[in-house]
Amino acid sequence: MLAYRKIIFISLLSIAQILLGEEDPQQQKFSDKLDFYFGAIDPAPDPNERTELGHQLFFDTRLSASDKTSCVSCHALSSAGTNRKLVKQQKEEGTFFRDIPTVFNVAQLNLFSWEGKRIMLYEKIHHSLNSKHEMGEGEWEPRLDRLASYQDLFKKAYPEKKMTQETISDALAEYLKQLVTPAPIDDYINGDKKALSVEQLKGLNTFNEMKCASCHTGKNFGGEMVQQMGAIKAWPNKKDLGYFYTTKNEEHKMFFRVSPLRNVILTKPYFHDASSSHLLDAIRKMDEHVAGAGVDKESTIEIYTFLKSLSGELPEKWIDAPVIQK
Ligand code: HEC
Ligand code: HEC
Repeated sequence: MLAYRKIIFISLLSIAQILLGEEDPQQQKFSDKLDFYFGAIDPAPDPNERTELGHQLFFDTRLSASDKTSCVSCHALSSAGTNRKLVKQQKEEGTFFRDIPTVFNVAQLNLFSWEGKRIMLYEKIHHSLNSKHEMGEGEWEPRLDRLASYQDLFKKAYPEKKMTQETISDALAEYLKQLVTPAPIDDYINGDKKALSVEQLKGLNTFNEMKCASCHTGKNFGGEMVQQMGAIKAWPNKKDLGYFYTTKNEEHKMFFRVSPLRNVILTKPYFHDASSSHLLDAIRKMDEHVAGAGVDKESTIEIYTFLKSLSGELPEKWIDAPVIQK
């Protein structure tokens, strides 16, 4: 009975508002709560010597165990911090591990990697430096020897410390803090109510109605929790067990970190197994396997239109290749 009364009340309210030409109350409500659900991007801190050093290291192949790969080989900065060509190639060669996540806006994450590790950014980078799927496993001495020309830069940036895996990770973290991409959604959250188009606002509302906003929370529209991939309908590929590797708890099999969605239009392919190569398809699959909210053709397009407002400006100065200390 109460529910009925509520529906009648809301309907009358909507009619009144349509007559008065006001915004739909539900929409108004959600778009007023964006600070609570998401929040505007943190601006990059002022760069310093560590930032410049990290910039060089990010582009330097000498940092890898093989002496052949650099961070930018996988996290291609002009391709939104990921490398879809490489993923395709890895799949063909049978060397594919996981889809390469972007390195833009990672400074504001609190969970890292598809496995949802609750660690600090420099700790994730330390892991990247030693992972066989990223910079390679093995002895550090040859790498530090190859990087000897950096000694002076390290002395300046870390007067009390030496060039070690720790200071290297720290300098890379300082560099990654510059890779932020402020987008129209941030202007909107910061009070510029014209920053989003009418269609994008409609899409934002649909994003909420279709339950997307219940998981894709935080400043990166994701990255704050782990959730089961296939909670509604089993995910066909069960090779990667995700969060289970972090906790070793049977109940966490097939749980993955909720993907951050900033710049998502540019970061294809999608999902941990890179199984979707178009965003419209990814939105549909999310609903089919995880959200179960009944997303139809129209709402898929509305959400897609909203997701475009999460694409931001790339920080030119920091994405270009620097001159490397030889
Ligand atoms: C061979 C490709 C490759 C290279 C080289 C590589 N990465 Fe990655 N990176 C990945 C993959 C794949 C993941 C996802 C790993 C996972 O989920 O376990 C990842 C994850 C990350 C993440 C976490 C992003 C997130 O959203 O959680 C950061 C940060 C990162 N890498 C930084 C670096 C840095 C810094 C370097 C260089 C020192 C580097 N990577 C080198 C492939 C690579
Ligand atoms: C129950 C939590 C949950 C809900 C609800 C949810 N998602 Fe997700 N989303 C996730 C998880 C977890 C992943 C990572 C899955 C994986 O790849 O294993 C993800 C990944 C994605 C990706 C892929 C991003 C990438 O870079 O690979 C997109 C796009 C996405 N979600 C959009 C949506 C949309 C649109 C909705 C609403 C229809 C939605 N999600 C609802 C949890 C959720």
